[in-house]
Amino acid sequence: MPETAAPLGLLAELTHRCPLHCPYCSNPLELVARQREMSTEQWCSVLDQARELGVLQVHLSGGEPLARNDLPEIVSHARGLGFYVNLVTSGVGLTKPRLADLVERGIDHVQLSLQGASETSNNAIAGARVFQHKLSAAEAIGELEVPLTVNAVLHRRNHGEIAELIAMAERLGADRLELANTQYYGWALRNREALMPTREQLDAAEPIVREATERLAGKMRIVYVVADYADAHPKPCMHGWGARQLTVAPDGTVLPCPAATAITTLDLSTVVDTPLAEIWYSSSSFNAFRGTDWMSEPCRSCPRKETDFGGCRCQAFLLTGDATATDPVCSLSPNRGLVDEVLAERPVVDVELSMRAPGSLR
Ligand code: SF4
Ligand code: FES
Repeated sequence: MPETAAPLGLLAELTHRCPLHCPYCSNPLELVARQREMSTEQWCSVLDQARELGVLQVHLSGGEPLARNDLPEIVSHARGLGFYVNLVTSGVGLTKPRLADLVERGIDHVQLSLQGASETSNNAIAGARVFQHKLSAAEAIGELEVPLTVNAVLHRRNHGEIAELIAMAERLGADRLELANTQYYGWALRNREALMPTREQLDAAEPIVREATERLAGKMRIVYVVADYADAHPKPCMHGWGARQLTVAPDGTVLPCPAATAITTLDLSTVVDTPLAEIWYSSSSFNAFRGTDWMSEPCRSCPRKETDFGGCRCQAFLLTGDATATDPVCSLSPNRGLVDEVLAERPVVDVELSMRAPGSLR
């Protein structure tokens, strides 16, 4: 196995608390309660260890990171260590004075979520009246000239709004727009039937995205994350397991990918009792699917194995019960039938959504 390189990014999930109830939430079904969140000192220690390990970028995320009162302290600490600091937020609570303070302390970039292109559709998917908060947050971000990425998760209910979402991101002054089709992990898997876009929606989206990408080149970068169930090849998930990024959950559990708690056969380590470097280089969870030695056929002898790394481990586990299996999205997988079945059974009419329940957060 080639020598393990240092990670580039840390996704710091400061809290699972969130004011939104998105049905596409990819956080685990079982959320970390507030009482089990790590303290300010523990998070600062995680940042120290990540810097030491070679991490360059920190994504402060959640849930909603603004729900933590010590966010300013954590940002200052991250800036003191020289990280590039990205705030991943719903925008709820991001007033201009609060953002000005965070920018002063070290926020370099904001990623703002948008659930829909109108107040009605946004609030229906968010399960809360948050649209105006998002507009105010975007205005503050623009006035303070902070680089902005708008992130919109796509699904059956908002696929038809892609052109409007692009226009809105332009109006908000975004430098980058992520149009990401839902990935079916965590809570989202529960809603797969209701969220899965139709073939017609996917076909209609492509020319709209292509035209806008060309028209806005040099002004706003559009990243379109395809709906992988509909593809013949899987995505190169995480650019390979344990290759570039690590995630620390609110309670200190260290994850090779944000959805890895789904793989119940993994023995996950926590930074509360094991140093981050030891987890990155030596833990069984980070080494489980590193490189290509773990692969079985057809991946083992496939020319694409260094391109897509056999696809997504979480998806393989969730669909087949075996995390070492070829991602069933792959047309060469003996389990591709499982994905085709889901696609064939896409409902003709809209199915009721199950909103992310906040109960487990209390
Ligand atoms: Fe990728 Fe494995 Fe499919 Fe080859 S067989 S394309 S490596 S998932
Ligand atoms: Fe976990 Fe793809 S989401 S490896």
